[in-house]
Amino acid sequence: MADLSTSIAGVRLPNLFFNASGVWCQHEAELADLLKSESGSLITKSATFEQRQGNPEPRYKPLAGGSINSMGLPNEGFEYYLEYAKKFDYSQEKPLFISLSGLSLEDNKKMCQAFADAKLDCILEVNFSCPNVPGKPQLGYDMEAMEAALTALAPIINKPFGIKLPPYFDIAHFDAVAAIINKFDQVQFVTCVNSVGNGLAIDFETETALIKPKDGFGGLGGLMILQTALANVNAFHRRLTGGKQVIGVGGVTSGKEAFLHVLAGASAVQIGTQLKEEGPAAFGRIKKELEEIMAAKGYKSLDDFRGKVKTL
Ligand code: DHB
Repeated sequence: MADLSTSIAGVRLPNLFFNASGVWCQHEAELADLLKSESGSLITKSATFEQRQGNPEPRYKPLAGGSINSMGLPNEGFEYYLEYAKKFDYSQEKPLFISLSGLSLEDNKKMCQAFADAKLDCILEVNFSCPNVPGKPQLGYDMEAMEAALTALAPIINKPFGIKLPPYFDIAHFDAVAAIINKFDQVQFVTCVNSVGNGLAIDFETETALIKPKDGFGGLGGLMILQTALANVNAFHRRLTGGKQVIGVGGVTSGKEAFLHVLAGASAVQIGTQLKEEGPAAFGRIKKELEEIMAAKGYKSLDDFRGKVKTL
């Protein structure tokens, strides 16, 4: 039987799959569903300092081959997720990831301090890439602000953590972002990629945008972003040093795309749009499909093929 176990930032996951932050993880009932599922871990909805309702609906729509969303960070406020993390049972096999997405550096500092003070075994994924708050550019596309944020947050967090990145589309940007991240020993993983920001989906018949916020503009996810995700996973896998890992996310609908993410260099794989559409049963199905692919190809563990994509 193929071994799908992995470890991220020194913490073991029984298998490489978990939810992409934002999907099935805003409330405790959804997090309980993830715990019951065949996922290897779980991550909470990106938290802001205060609770938020998010943008007006409709704010998510499935598309042919993917999805569009402009949720606007609806979440229960970081204290809700801190309380959840405090009562989480760390003796069971799935580790807990917590996503933080402060609207300012000050908010990120306060939230990171609160988690550090609580001395918990959860792993922080700081989100540098929320594209859906009107009037707020994302940190991931501002190299100076990103370095300043890491300089401020790393000493507060004071243990290994990760950052969620937007997709990049230029080799010079891969180089610049990787060079910044490589300055921070404590950044032990990057999660690539957040949604491809600011697409516009229009209904042909009604000639109307599919979602309401931001004149219809929203982040794209699902199969339509697979190759962008694979490129970002591989670009960072090639550039990051000091044992830093990449978590792949984007376009995973079956075991096949998960296999490609690992081949590109992913050490774990998150599932967003497909989880939203199929529900947590997606984990059991995709896990089984990946096991079958590995058996057919003669791979026994993820290490056998991670990062081993061939080039011409
Ligand atoms: C939201 C979307 C994102 O892509 C993200 O990283 C965080 C939040 C949102 O719209 O809620």
